[in-house]
Amino acid sequence: MPEWTFDKFGHGGDYNPDQWRHIPGIFEEDLRLMKKSHCNLMSVGIFSWAALEPEEGKYDFEWLQKVLDGLYENGVSVFLATPSGARPAWMSRSYPEVLRVEANRVRNLHGDRHNHCYTSPTYRKFVNKLNTALAERFGKHPAVVGWHISNEYGGECHCELCQNAFREFLKNKYGTLENLNHAWWTGFWAKTYTDWGQLESPAPHGEHAVHGLALDWKRFVTHQTVDFMAAEIEPLRAITPDLPVTANFMGTYPGLDYFRFQDVLDVSSYDSYPRWGAGDATDEEIAHDAGFKYDVTRGILRKPWILMESTPSQVNWQNICRPKKPGMHLLSSMQAVAHGADSVQYFQWRKSRGSSEKLHGAVVDHVGNENTRVFRDVTEVGEWLEKIQPVLHADVPAETAVIFDWNNRWALEEAQGPRKDKKYEEQVKEHYAAIRRLGADVDVIDMEQDFSPYKLIVAPMLYMIKPGVGEKIEKFVENGGTFVTTHYTGYVDENDLCFLGGFPGPIRKVMGIWAEEIDALYPGQKNGIRMNDGREYECGFMCELIHSEGAEVKAVYTDDFYAGRPVLTKNSFGKGEAWYVASRADQAFLDDFYKEITASAGVSLPGEQTAGVLMSRRVKDGKTFLFVQNFSGCAKEAAIPAGVDLITGEEVGGKTEMKVNEVKIIELK
Ligand code: GLA
Ligand code: ZN
Repeated sequence: MPEWTFDKFGHGGDYNPDQWRHIPGIFEEDLRLMKKSHCNLMSVGIFSWAALEPEEGKYDFEWLQKVLDGLYENGVSVFLATPSGARPAWMSRSYPEVLRVEANRVRNLHGDRHNHCYTSPTYRKFVNKLNTALAERFGKHPAVVGWHISNEYGGECHCELCQNAFREFLKNKYGTLENLNHAWWTGFWAKTYTDWGQLESPAPHGEHAVHGLALDWKRFVTHQTVDFMAAEIEPLRAITPDLPVTANFMGTYPGLDYFRFQDVLDVSSYDSYPRWGAGDATDEEIAHDAGFKYDVTRGILRKPWILMESTPSQVNWQNICRPKKPGMHLLSSMQAVAHGADSVQYFQWRKSRGSSEKLHGAVVDHVGNENTRVFRDVTEVGEWLEKIQPVLHADVPAETAVIFDWNNRWALEEAQGPRKDKKYEEQVKEHYAAIRRLGADVDVIDMEQDFSPYKLIVAPMLYMIKPGVGEKIEKFVENGGTFVTTHYTGYVDENDLCFLGGFPGPIRKVMGIWAEEIDALYPGQKNGIRMNDGREYECGFMCELIHSEGAEVKAVYTDDFYAGRPVLTKNSFGKGEAWYVASRADQAFLDDFYKEITASAGVSLPGEQTAGVLMSRRVKDGKTFLFVQNFSGCAKEAAIPAGVDLITGEEVGGKTEMKVNEVKIIELK
């Protein structure tokens, strides 16, 4: 499959010149401003279906030809989009089956976007024809360097076509209804299915008690979306086999298991909108959240990725939308690069004049010129991207992996008890942030990926353990790896059936513990962790009551009827160690714990850390590039290892003053 080999850092964004065709001079002005802001890559045609096919079967490609020619002549390359994210009104009117049916079984009207059925043969046919025509006409255009497939795939359709496809999916998976009934435990509440036709997707006014069904439906939605994408790219692959394809994803969006797109993506991409300056979290916390999503995006293919959208100033869809403070645009853009992005792209180039995104941040504002703070910020990023060329396509040297798994997440969401909100993503991020605060680079992967590249694997709340994963964890530890997991791990198999014979099921042996009961605490209720050396920390949320079956007890609970029972254990297994943290521990615990664990696991760290100043690395051709990012909101003195500042060319090292929102990129000695 083709690679993303664009020979510069991409800089640009969603470009919608079709909205401005009726105003002379705008396109020429865009070209002038792109040059001025050091932009070299635009995504064109994302929502252009009505402009490309104004009437059924009548294509109008002339405007796009002029746009691509003009961009190319001015040194700007293009991600050519397939416009399936929104369709023209004529299609919805003539072929209502293309419209989505919601879980309540009511078909949507034409409207909004991302409102189509992924199964509809009619919709697929229209997409295929237009994509074929686009590829034939523009696939060899010298401006085009990749395909931007659709836009932010998401949502689900419950129409009859989708119901039938779901039944086929289940037939393929289970073969017989007997197998399905067993996997879904349908003896419960008289749910036994005796005919495939009885199967229906979950509905608010219908079935929502069968967890196996709910889980398989979510898997089907991913399957069908991947299948739709595969159908979209089929003609593109045939006509333009050398052009890489990407689809812009939404980080940890709950509705799609992004790891299942591995086979249809050449490069992964992400639309990132962190809430910098929010009142309820610090910028450092927001940076860890953003970093986590960058690492999820990179984890899909485990290679550099595209930051496909970000706002150069503010969004218009959060409850409160703050513009970026001075320095934040550069800092946040470089943070994405630090985590493996090979581009900084924006939504959008020119602010729309009308409709729902007219007040969303853009590079070119309604004032229409370059004399804005935002335009200057964007230009600065463009200049930086040119100066850090040696970093292009460099890897992120992660020796630690954190497991964030959609199937596990879905099973946790379904599980009733011991508390409603499981806070899976939050808890994974708490562990992630503790490791990142040490400066360690982290891959975020799912449980199906290869564990062998890592020294440390952290899998908080691995409630579901799919077949083979227990063995994989055992092997990883046996061979010298360090594995960490927490409370509420190893409860169910891939069908959401509880493991019999004691939790944590298939990893009971490698963990050397048995989890007998679990307590859930109300907000404000706490327990404590007392380490063998006397140090104490707080814990709560869930407290699991575990027994050692050979593991060393490193800490015990301080309170309640289980005071004195283990809360932290370490099992030496083969050449490695398996750690069990039986409760949700406070930040002080996680910080101390991972300091010790990364040291014993031999994870390489970039040196002394300063609170709020994040460090990340990329490596290429034996060179290491260190990104030092001050998200603390105040000036800081940071300890910087010796190297050369890629922007100033100066030698740096030692105690260094970092201004508010300052970032440095250093080639280490
Ligand atoms: C998403 C979409 C864009 C735009 C932005 C606004 O990421 O892909 O089309 O709507 O949000 O932030
Ligand atoms: Zn449908």
